[in-house]
Amino acid sequence: MRFPLNGFFIFAFGALGGMLFGFDTGIISGASPLIETDFSLNATQTGFITSSVLIGSCVGALSIGSLSDRYGRKRLLIVSAVLFLVGSLFSAVATGFSSMVAARIVLGLAVGAASALTPAYLAELAPKERRGSLSTLFQLMITFGILLAYAVNLGFLGHDIGGIRDWRWMLGSAMFPAALLLVGGILLPESPRYLAAKGDRRNAFKVLTLIRGDMDEVTVAGELDEIYDVVSHNSAGGLRQLLRTARPALIASVGIMLFQQLVGINSVIYFLPQVFIKGFGFPAKSATWVSVGIGVVNFLATVVATLIMDRFPRKRLLVAGSVVMTITLGIMATTNLLGIGAASMTMVLIALYIVGFAVSWGPIAWVLIGELFPLNVRGVGTSVGSAANWIANFVVTQFFLVLLEGFHNNVGGPFAIFAVFSFLSIPFVIHVVPETRGKSLEQIEREMSGRRSE
Ligand code: BGC
Repeated sequence: MRFPLNGFFIFAFGALGGMLFGFDTGIISGASPLIETDFSLNATQTGFITSSVLIGSCVGALSIGSLSDRYGRKRLLIVSAVLFLVGSLFSAVATGFSSMVAARIVLGLAVGAASALTPAYLAELAPKERRGSLSTLFQLMITFGILLAYAVNLGFLGHDIGGIRDWRWMLGSAMFPAALLLVGGILLPESPRYLAAKGDRRNAFKVLTLIRGDMDEVTVAGELDEIYDVVSHNSAGGLRQLLRTARPALIASVGIMLFQQLVGINSVIYFLPQVFIKGFGFPAKSATWVSVGIGVVNFLATVVATLIMDRFPRKRLLVAGSVVMTITLGIMATTNLLGIGAASMTMVLIALYIVGFAVSWGPIAWVLIGELFPLNVRGVGTSVGSAANWIANFVVTQFFLVLLEGFHNNVGGPFAIFAVFSFLSIPFVIHVVPETRGKSLEQIEREMSGRRSE
């Protein structure tokens, strides 16, 4: 086995699935009003075009886990890249509501698959001292994908190039990153931990040597021995094994994923223009610019997260993020409900809220689901954790607009609910989430199984 990529490219390509995740969930905010007019859709149908991706994602996340434990992370990354390509093409050429929903569900399958595969793949490849930062690349790619989608929306809006409608260009442009992921998938090495679990010690050693370019052979062999030690005590497990032997990891992961969505992040990421149009009477174009601004803040704060991730305990970062989000949401809820919330102040507070999320819950939720599960159920475990994220995402996005209407377009109402969840996430982190920074995956596995037998 020869690999044409060096360590840096392996991690960058490995995280590419995140970019498509961000792009495909972000692009629809600009495209959906245009599709609505073209296909003469009602509000429920338009909403469904946005959320159908989330349904597909949940199914994709759930089905990929046991497959990736059986066939390997690499092969399934290739499968998800193909699904991304097909879904992007079909959504660009959709002729009506049903074909669009079908294409968005295919895209969702790919997004869900990538969201369960990528965190496990990155965590399994990274050395323990830098695992937090390298796994955060996934979130960095997500935020870059979202930003790119906002920029593509602005770029194509109103330009029917070659007589083809602008929204078709917006949706079709996702084929480029999808093709890149396909190339990446073909070139990337298989995860050394997966190879070890399959008994392929020779190739596991080769991959480890390649990605630990700066380490000597003895250290690499030591790491491989540690992996083998864990492998030899475990038999490959499925859902039942997950429930029986990895319950603490499961509870922590599912809880983290639910809270990551219940703090309301996607009410901002998906619906910010609507908040400013409906809540503050902004014209559509200015509201889209506000989104781009927030996309930039989100991306830059995630760059900071990548730099600091391995310097601070993950739990401390999570609690700090929750405090920032509780305070900013609390102020926005109170001022808007009292009718004294100005648009400019809301904008600043939303930016602070985004920073709070982007340096904590955004990356760490995905970092942790790659770290917490024991090797023999890591695929299934990340699947279930990731599916929990998509279900909560679906619920929040479905209810946000309804809630907004219920509160007569006053964002104070939904923000108050998100503030409560941000606050509740603090005791959850303190009491349920284990600290993983600086530990090898095998060490985490031993500690988690100790928790089980306590
Ligand atoms: C979340 C997404 C969200 C994104 C925003 C991710 O970690 O899972 O739902 O849209 O962060 O940056």
